[in-house]
Amino acid sequence: MLDILSDMRKTDHCNALTIVDIGKEVVLMGWVQRRRDHGGVIFIDLRDREGITQVVFNPEISKTVHEKAHVIRSEYVLGVKGKVCKRPDGMSNSNLKTGEIEVIVTELKILNTSQTPPFPIEDNIDVSENARLQNRHLDLRRPNMQKNIILRHKTGRIIREYLNNLGFFDIETPFLTRSTPEGARDYLVPSRVNTGHFYALPQSPQLFKQLLMISGFERYYQIVKCFRDEDLRADRQPEFTQIDMEMSFIREDDIICVAEGMMKKVFQEILDMNMVTPFPRLTYDEAMSRYGLDKPDIRFGLELREVSDIVAGSNFQVFSSVVKKGGIVKGLNAKGCIDLSRKEIDDLTAFVAIYKAKGLAWIKIKENEWQSPIAKFFTEQEKDALTKRLDIAPGDLVFFVADKAKVVNDSLGNLRNHLGKKLGLIKDNTFKFLWVTHFPLFEYNEDEKRYEALHHPFTSPLEDHYDLLKQNPLAVRSRAYDLVLNGFEIGGGSIRIHQKPLQEKIFEALGMDTKSYEDKFGFLLSALDYGAPPHGGMALGFDRLVMLLCGETSIREVIAFPKTQKAACLLTQAPSIPTNAQLNELSLKVDLS
Ligand code: AMO
Ligand code: AMP
Repeated sequence: MLDILSDMRKTDHCNALTIVDIGKEVVLMGWVQRRRDHGGVIFIDLRDREGITQVVFNPEISKTVHEKAHVIRSEYVLGVKGKVCKRPDGMSNSNLKTGEIEVIVTELKILNTSQTPPFPIEDNIDVSENARLQNRHLDLRRPNMQKNIILRHKTGRIIREYLNNLGFFDIETPFLTRSTPEGARDYLVPSRVNTGHFYALPQSPQLFKQLLMISGFERYYQIVKCFRDEDLRADRQPEFTQIDMEMSFIREDDIICVAEGMMKKVFQEILDMNMVTPFPRLTYDEAMSRYGLDKPDIRFGLELREVSDIVAGSNFQVFSSVVKKGGIVKGLNAKGCIDLSRKEIDDLTAFVAIYKAKGLAWIKIKENEWQSPIAKFFTEQEKDALTKRLDIAPGDLVFFVADKAKVVNDSLGNLRNHLGKKLGLIKDNTFKFLWVTHFPLFEYNEDEKRYEALHHPFTSPLEDHYDLLKQNPLAVRSRAYDLVLNGFEIGGGSIRIHQKPLQEKIFEALGMDTKSYEDKFGFLLSALDYGAPPHGGMALGFDRLVMLLCGETSIREVIAFPKTQKAACLLTQAPSIPTNAQLNELSLKVDLS
């Protein structure tokens, strides 16, 4: 077979050549970004993953090569041999690293032709995400996508190096396994050999990494795919990647220190930014109280303050009755925002309704009066107390929501984030890390009338909360911690339960009887019986971290082949319908009725 490249070997990439290379004979290979025919001379911007070089086909240099260049179109793949020359005076392009030179072509190989692409291979194009995902191989040729995917690679390399140097071992764990509960639905894989039985794809390697600690490896890590069948969002994919770690003989501070060092190194090497450690810490209770969310964005203020005690006896029925029924009232002071219009306030009311708030009370603070439909209900004493609590001054606009604590926190917490963006309170290019610690061990599932693990059931409760396990499960706080960056949960972990009796107690608190937990987690319980060391760890969301490093707002921008909101791959058309033969082999029938 004829080798199309024959004697042509690439000597340089398309972002390499500058005036110091003038006079050199070079071979470049890449794609045609743009072709211009300037009355006789043809100019082509040749692109590869590194950049662009202008190559020139001049009939006075080579008639045959110039002739051949006429058929070239966008995205053709070329190999060109030629001489590096200085561009004529006034023709240099300061936007390109190679902008002062061009390559005068003496030999051309058209390595492949191309159809006209469905969208231009450029950044900032106006094209739907569906079209991009259907043609991801072309979308990924765009400079910004190349930059993101390469940055992802570099981040992974830095993290591996960092953990390798700290004595962590990279150990693979299985994908075809049993369910590892992390709060989502499992992806199931039918077993042909064991008819009627299914593997579950791991929601995380949680149990395997604990077993590796019991096996004595002491420090484990893996940059690993996890699978969760859950409702998708901009920062959630059905398969995503974790930086997963586990360590033995450690306490919270040890793993927190490893993660902080990792983030420091990544931000230094990728963005040349110095992240000051240690990162601030808040307990879950404090985060909820001041920000309404367990992943607060601390790049700006606008903190929430509870005012239930002040308004409990007020004449404003909405507030007093909510407090009487065990709900709460919180306020948010949008400092200096008195000029927000009625329409804007109505829009904010619609915004909090998404989070089930029944209304959004507001007060505009004028020099001598409070302007508001509800101001008349408050006594001077109540006004004084609110002024103190909410740091009220003329020019402020104060919002209130009264409801069950969950609704108040959800709605005001999200309103706070919304206002932070809308009011321009977030400086560009700032990164603020925060640890949130001491999460509740359990939450109550209203629909199923039972307790669930807030993280996963292997999380250790605080030692001095053991007694609460029976009496008041919702008050139990855990040795779990989340790492938050700019309002995104980018990681989470905990100190684990390493003693069998406590693990059994937790399963019982979660409403499982002995048979059901032995069935599901017998292997873990038995492992805990053979000298399990104290251990703990965490997992960072690699996609979310890279998204923030790239300045993107969706993790789909940093995953080479992501899925849509409906968990479909538009490129390969997955998921697809299996053949009857495949189903028969698995003894499965599909009933779509
Ligand atoms: P957790 O469930 O908190 O912990 O997951 C760890 C981190 O993974 C990221 N993440 C996701 N990213 C994209 N798409 C998703 N669907 C998705 N789900 C989670 C988040 C999250 O903080 N085994 C435990 C860790 C441990 O205890 O060590 C676990 O999986 O950034
Ligand atoms: P109303 O008395 O229903 O006309 O409400 C007066 C003001 O209180 C309006 O601005 C409502 O948006 C607001 N409001 C009503 N219910 C609530 C609530 N649960 N929390 C906060 N504000 C509310």
